[in-house]
Amino acid sequence: MIKSSLISAANPQQLEAITTTEGPLLIIAGPGSGKTFTLVERVVYLLTEKDIFPECIMVVTFTDKAAQELTTRISNRLDQLGVRFNLNEMYLGTFHSICLRWLQDHREFTRLKHNFTVFDEFDQHYFVYQRFSAFEALEGITHLAGNPATASTWERSESLMKWINTVSEEALDIQALLVAPDAAIQALGRCAQLYHTLLEEQNALDFSTIQREALHLLRTYPPVRDALKERIVYVMVDEYQDFSVIDQCKQTNPTDKVVLQSTNNG
Ligand SMILES: Nc1ncnc2c1ncn2[C@@H]1O[C@H](COP(=O)(O)OP(=O)(O)OP(=O)(O)O)[C@@H](O)[C@H]1O
Ligand SMILES: [Mg+2]
Repeated sequence: MIKSSLISAANPQQLEAITTTEGPLLIIAGPGSGKTFTLVERVVYLLTEKDIFPECIMVVTFTDKAAQELTTRISNRLDQLGVRFNLNEMYLGTFHSICLRWLQDHREFTRLKHNFTVFDEFDQHYFVYQRFSAFEALEGITHLAGNPATASTWERSESLMKWINTVSEEALDIQALLVAPDAAIQALGRCAQLYHTLLEEQNALDFSTIQREALHLLRTYPPVRDALKERIVYVMVDEYQDFSVIDQCKQTNPTDKVVLQSTNNG
């Protein structure tokens, strides 16, 4: 029985999604139909009705703006209900911010030293630009950076940076790229390898490398992974369409109501 203070204005489909807390759940609904509302109520329901500790919950989204909106809406809703939780104990933020937190918390298991730097896009571009001669010496560089006759070094370093970021974002195996049959792919492997060596020397991370390093941490140190796995029991993703190719396809035919769809795999 839901406590009366928690009965929100949720419609029946939203209520079903809010109270279905165990097992995988996918909510597909059109713009402005209350997906974030449902997610916020689901978090509140877990905290206040199911007595789940905040540290067992992870709520993640893609952009800083969406993360800020989620944080504000969850805090406001808890305030409205007069309940106090330390939301800092919850993993709540963008994928990048949560991965960065894992790297900070377990830095001794990563390549990072104390006071590491996180590059923004401009810092990263400038970093590649300053070291462009080292990349230029690599075989096949024109496949990635274009021709020096038609593009400036600044433009070429940007083009190279985008390719290197793709390697990180897609979690591609650099060793596999190095032995690929295609000359351009091999060149990408060489550039990515050099880039990561230089980045390590600089004790720095760029935006895409945050996720790459977090993945490496989880894969390389099972105790870290297992501790997080044990702690984080409820994972919720807002703006899921920004991550999932499958869901991007579904977005072309959105429904105007919340649809619950259980899946069999985790
Ligand atoms: N059942 C409800 N009762 C009252 N207000 C609701 C209900 N469902 C949604 N809303 C309100 O409708 C507005 C849009 O909801 P919300 O932002 O959650 O939708 P969304 O599906 O996440 O939108 P977007 O597609 O833009 O992310 C918000 O102001 C929200 O509080
Ligand atoms: Mg939303």
